Amino acid sequence: MQIRNILITGGSGKIGKNVLPELVAAGYCVRAIQHEAPITLPGVDTMEGDLGDPALAPKAIEDMDAVIHLANVKECRETFMRTNVQGTFQLLDACKNSGHIKQFIQAGSDARAGIYFSPRPNPLDETFPHSAYPGYYAFSKVLEETMCEQYRIQYKLPITVLRFSWVYDEDDILAHATLLPPHFGVPTWRDLAHTPEQKEFFEKGIDAVACMVHPDGKPCIRHVVSIRDVVHGVLQAVGNQSAIGAAFAIAAPSAFAYDVMSEYASRKLDIPVVRFVNEIAHDFQHSLAKSRSILGYNPQCDIFRIVDDAVAFRKSGRQRSPLKYPG
Ligand SMILES: NC(=O)c1ccc[n+]([C@@H]2O[C@H](COP(=O)([O-])OP(=O)(O)OC[C@H]3O[C@@H](n4cnc5c(N)ncnc54)[C@H](O)[C@@H]3O)[C@@H](O)[C@H]2O)c1
Repeated sequence: MQIRNILITGGSGKIGKNVLPELVAAGYCVRAIQHEAPITLPGVDTMEGDLGDPALAPKAIEDMDAVIHLANVKECRETFMRTNVQGTFQLLDACKNSGHIKQFIQAGSDARAGIYFSPRPNPLDETFPHSAYPGYYAFSKVLEETMCEQYRIQYKLPITVLRFSWVYDEDDILAHATLLPPHFGVPTWRDLAHTPEQKEFFEKGIDAVACMVHPDGKPCIRHVVSIRDVVHGVLQAVGNQSAIGAAFAIAAPSAFAYDVMSEYASRKLDIPVVRFVNEIAHDFQHSLAKSRSILGYNPQCDIFRIVDDAVAFRKSGRQRSPLKYPG
């Protein structure tokens, strides 16, 4: 499959701003929809627009061979239907009507499988049915994928869905795992602090790394992904004939256990580990068998690398990107 011209949505977002330069470096001609945040990468043709505007999609896909659809809003009841659902529908429909789109890559999420909040098979693979956890964001990931599936079935639109795990960039893992702000992701450690020892950390403003455990004392297990592997996954998918008509898990080489992660981060930061019991968390890990064999996905960043990258980010003195949502 020959792909030369690519439309990308969400190019200023967490994933998009990392994917864009790699697409340009790989020699693709890229058009990016610009919404709110400017996109100033040399070599990228930008088009100002709002996905909810029905006039945007037909114009944006003109002369394009492929679409990488990353734009969305997260947990926002007021806007998720217009941006995520209607926006995705309008793009899909424009691609169907145009007849010249060779690949439509949809950003999916493991939220569509209700991970963390509900018990799931271990490992979890792509055949597990949609069954999102509570919230409008996860709901919209199911609706987006369902529309993609139908456009594939009804109109043979060449769809690829990449189901990203929770993506860690910058110092996200430390913002998640340490007690002092900034805090990022679920759960919020302060809500799980019940003993005097746990509460003291917050009262005195002492930092520590959280080790999340189940009520039986076993460490919780979670499967996330480094932004580096996300970018690799997207690049593997573009123009890959074997990726058409399928969904793929994009996650780290393996899941991590909180005891291993917290011990490692504690040594790196020279702060203690504190255990928190989480009564509602469920372990999950994704099977990468299909992504590895069909996409050629070969993730490199295990939890040690993710922590190392986060520590290096903090040492560099760079500012974290503003948090648009808590997790
Ligand atoms: N970040 C993660 O951990 C994660 C995990 C799984 C799946 N995903 C999926 O990956 C995709 C990208 O996620 P992200 O974290 O980079 O998102 P982000 O919130 O960082 O960026 C969203 C992008 O969408 C654009 N956008 C928002 N509303 C728009 C509108 N009305 N019109 C046009 N553009 C609009 C924004 O300008 C921004 O560029 C999403 O589909 C998301 O569901 C992300």
